[in-house]
Amino acid sequence: MTNHNYASKPEHGADFGVLAYLVTAAAVLLLMMSFGLLMRMEQAQIINMGPMWFYQLMTLHGAGMVGIAGIAGAAVMWHFLRQYVDLSKGIFVANLALFLVGVVMILASVLLGNFHGAWTFLYPMPSKSMGMWSQEAAALFMGGLLVIGVGFVLLHLDVARAIVARYGNFARALGWPQLFGKDDGNAPPPTVVASTMVTIVNLTGLVVGASILTMMLVNLYVPSFAIDALLAKGMIYFFGHVFINATIYMAVIAVYEILPRYTQRPWKANKIFLASWTASTLMVMFIFPHHLLMDFAFPTWMLVMGHVIGYLNTFPILVVTGYGALMIVYRSGIRWDMASRLLFVSLFGWAAGAMPAFIDGTITVNLVMHNTLWVPGHFHTYLLLGMVAMVFGFMSYLGKRDQQTDDSLLGRAAFWGFTAGTLGFTLSFLYSGKESVARRYAAHLPEWVPYDRIGSLFAALVVAASLLFIIRFLSRLGRAGRDFPRASLAHGTAL
Ligand code: HEM
Repeated sequence: MTNHNYASKPEHGADFGVLAYLVTAAAVLLLMMSFGLLMRMEQAQIINMGPMWFYQLMTLHGAGMVGIAGIAGAAVMWHFLRQYVDLSKGIFVANLALFLVGVVMILASVLLGNFHGAWTFLYPMPSKSMGMWSQEAAALFMGGLLVIGVGFVLLHLDVARAIVARYGNFARALGWPQLFGKDDGNAPPPTVVASTMVTIVNLTGLVVGASILTMMLVNLYVPSFAIDALLAKGMIYFFGHVFINATIYMAVIAVYEILPRYTQRPWKANKIFLASWTASTLMVMFIFPHHLLMDFAFPTWMLVMGHVIGYLNTFPILVVTGYGALMIVYRSGIRWDMASRLLFVSLFGWAAGAMPAFIDGTITVNLVMHNTLWVPGHFHTYLLLGMVAMVFGFMSYLGKRDQQTDDSLLGRAAFWGFTAGTLGFTLSFLYSGKESVARRYAAHLPEWVPYDRIGSLFAALVVAASLLFIIRFLSRLGRAGRDFPRASLAHGTAL
């Protein structure tokens, strides 16, 4: 079927900018994973760095991981979206440059200025450090986040411009004419639908995030400029939750684009697909109060909204994507290699990781579980075995010259090591949560330590497997940059 909405430019090898994003992502991811391992080993009493270092590393790990997930997700989105719309390379590179500036500011704030108020920088903690860090350190941290946020705002504005130039408006890019009218088969491809959703929610979240960061920066130097603490918390959680959720909605584009190339079957944006993305566009913006269910000071209606929407939003995109993947893989004769395996397992990781959040989203459960390691158990599952697996799958796909070659023994070991390591690591968090082990504690009680030790072992396996993926990707970089033909579906003709 050839049609106006689906016609795309042929896929090229990765752009230099995409490779720069991925190399940055690989380096930061590995560094942050090592920090995570050190934190887990501290809790396991295998090493002894002390609480100050623990919280500094926790701050870097939280901010670094969330930021780098955004960068990696943006690389996936940009790489595939430019087949359909005209994106600006300059803006894409500017976002990476601003990200790196922000990273240097955050590193300086934490490593030189001892800032350790966590990536959630809750008001008024940055300005009330009780002598633990200076005003300048807090300003550098929040300024760094602001610079990174500005980069992402520019990127999404450019994506918005390009999508509107091609499809006329967001409603058409989300496939509303086909969703609410007759499905004439001309709905935009999944990549465009997903990118539109991410652009809408992330622009909203980033503007709110930049506003609260600016307000807190002013408050830092002009304390009489007081901020309502509850409003500040709501704004920070809205921004943080939308941003981290958006990373997986960008990364899943790799699944929509690459699995069809392996199975020679199209991924169609049918009515159910379009309905689920539209529903999530709205719900992702109203779900964040499920992080605030313990805050009695929030209005009850907000908490009820968090509870109900938390339940509802768990399913649409996940089910549609999981079902879609099963359908295009079933009896397709797919060739399983590192990329296709990682992309397929990523859907399992996403689904499995959503379940603990679904349980924790129940108010009565939340009151007991939310401040335990159950919550890191939830988000590490969907981010590591979901989001990061999608990114590693994308890297592996880019670096592969010939789809017919088999993976090396080391490659297969890396895949199974990553999968088993992540499951063991996240289950150790979840089990600790079930045992009421508190979250964000540098020092653990003796009875918690056995779980921490098991968790540390699996975490080391995850780091080792990730190192192998990354070395493999870097060694194939030259190849990924080349403009080589792929055994792929040509969008616009085959679809
Ligand atoms: C080898 C991989 C990883 C290890 C060993 C690791 C380890 C840890 C540990 C020990 C904590 C503190 C848990 C607590 O006591 O509350 C933590 C928190 C966190 N991790 Fe990871 N992690 C890994 C990967 C990731 C990834 C891939 C992401 C996101 C893409 C991520 C995002 C976070 C966030 C947002 C926090 C919360 C920080 C906070 O509470 O302020 N981690 N991680």
